[in-house]
Amino acid sequence: MANSLGEETKRIVAQFDYTDDDVNKGVREFLRQMNEGLQKDGTSISQIPTYVTGVPDGTEKGLYMAVDLGGTNFRVCSVHLNGDTTFNLTYSKVAIPKELMVAKTSKELFGFLAKQIEIFLKKHHEEHFEAHVHRRKSSKAPEGYEEESMFQLGFTFSFPVQQFGINKGSLIRWTKGFDIPDTIGKDVCALLQDEIDLLHLPVKVAALVNDTVGTLMARSYAAPGKTTTLIGAIFGTGTNGAYVEKITNLQKSVDGKYDKSTGEMVINTEWGSFDNQLNVLPNTQYDAKLDQDSVNPGIQIFEKRVSGMFLGEIVRLAVVNLYENTNVSLFKGASNTNDGQSTTHIGDGSGLFQQWGLDSSLMSVAAADTTPELSTLRQELDSQLQIRSASVEDAQAFKDIADAIGRRAARLSAVALGGIVIQSGRLKETKDELVDIGADGSLVEYYPHFREMISEAFKATEGIGAEGAERIRIGIATDGSGVGAALIALVAERMENKGIVDELAGLKNDAAQKLAGAIPSAAKPATLT
Ligand code: BGC
Repeated sequence: MANSLGEETKRIVAQFDYTDDDVNKGVREFLRQMNEGLQKDGTSISQIPTYVTGVPDGTEKGLYMAVDLGGTNFRVCSVHLNGDTTFNLTYSKVAIPKELMVAKTSKELFGFLAKQIEIFLKKHHEEHFEAHVHRRKSSKAPEGYEEESMFQLGFTFSFPVQQFGINKGSLIRWTKGFDIPDTIGKDVCALLQDEIDLLHLPVKVAALVNDTVGTLMARSYAAPGKTTTLIGAIFGTGTNGAYVEKITNLQKSVDGKYDKSTGEMVINTEWGSFDNQLNVLPNTQYDAKLDQDSVNPGIQIFEKRVSGMFLGEIVRLAVVNLYENTNVSLFKGASNTNDGQSTTHIGDGSGLFQQWGLDSSLMSVAAADTTPELSTLRQELDSQLQIRSASVEDAQAFKDIADAIGRRAARLSAVALGGIVIQSGRLKETKDELVDIGADGSLVEYYPHFREMISEAFKATEGIGAEGAERIRIGIATDGSGVGAALIALVAERMENKGIVDELAGLKNDAAQKLAGAIPSAAKPATLT
């Protein structure tokens, strides 16, 4: 062998280095692209206005429904907000059949979702359900229903959507393996409501919610202490973040009604598409190959370096490269194992040689195994990838590569989070208050030291530094799509109530003006009470 396995592994690992300088360059570009997105449509970071203009404080109350479409499962739940930062949640979960993810028509998918809502209501809210279905069926016009007897539902739909109201928005593009061209450009709330109405269910789709926005709301409702949460972030199958922005910074036009009194609005960044143009993001040969072979080449470029759906594939491509390197021996030949001498070999049909064949969860196993023998990792290489009798050296090479890719993902995540923290000015506005971030997703929850690695990158970031990093708290908020969505349904309901009040105010003004016109000599303008 001309080169040692260790040396060749180091060469690959170095390709995934993401230095402090890179982090700073990344943050500057993230800030630039964020601000570009606040000014106009069609930019890499979409900066989608969500029409949510405040975050909860834990005192909200009521019974709401929420559904969640965004990954491998569809969740239906009802949430009772107790008004004291606590809640009770009932839910059911069903795997989305693969064929529906790439169905011909939207109806196939949305019909399935409505059916799941019906099953849930029958099971968990039978009385409410029966009474209303009966009344709805016997009424001529479903609109004749009293709104208050309907469940207000928050629809967590975790794909890029151009919103034009709190419960209106058209799909920009599918991500995470979904591909139903028929849905692009359509209002996803209307698609769901139509199917719900066909089943005569007592449910109104009151709010459209991205999972990041739900996470922000859920964390804010339950966050310890008085601090309000700044960011809701997902590091799971996909990645994205939503944050609270000053309305004055939002320079592109926002159609439709929203409450301007708070001076703030939650923005869904859709940071998965940060730097699609590759101005600053790293682009190893493995990243390039992954993108080229994906269903959406050239987009979600940041997500393809950060999220769980893609990390395993990057590891796989890098490990296969090392395996095919004729200068070294990896997963071949004799090895010293627990049982003495054996021959390493890879079983037929191993995921190592198939696209998407390496699950990102194996990276967590690699990162967690810090023992000299790496026995857990070697066992998993065997059971997950049919790599039989891997030597310690082989497993070490695998671990080094996987760890480097995980570490790069965490440092890239710090670029997005750090960029938003700097944009918000919150570290400067107060001297010692914490800046709170709610995060959800398998990576942040289960990948060892993910949050610590983010924090380490914060320390090296200009505008944050060691002191700033101490004041940024990342907390896990797992109920975004349930409680978070319910909270937004509640906000929507309040907005609607406010809208009615505003309309009445408008009517009163009109009448007052008419009265004033009818009596021109009146000294005082007429007022109606
Ligand atoms: C979607 C986002 C979503 C994120 C996390 C991305 O692929 O574009 O809307 O928030 O995944 O689920």
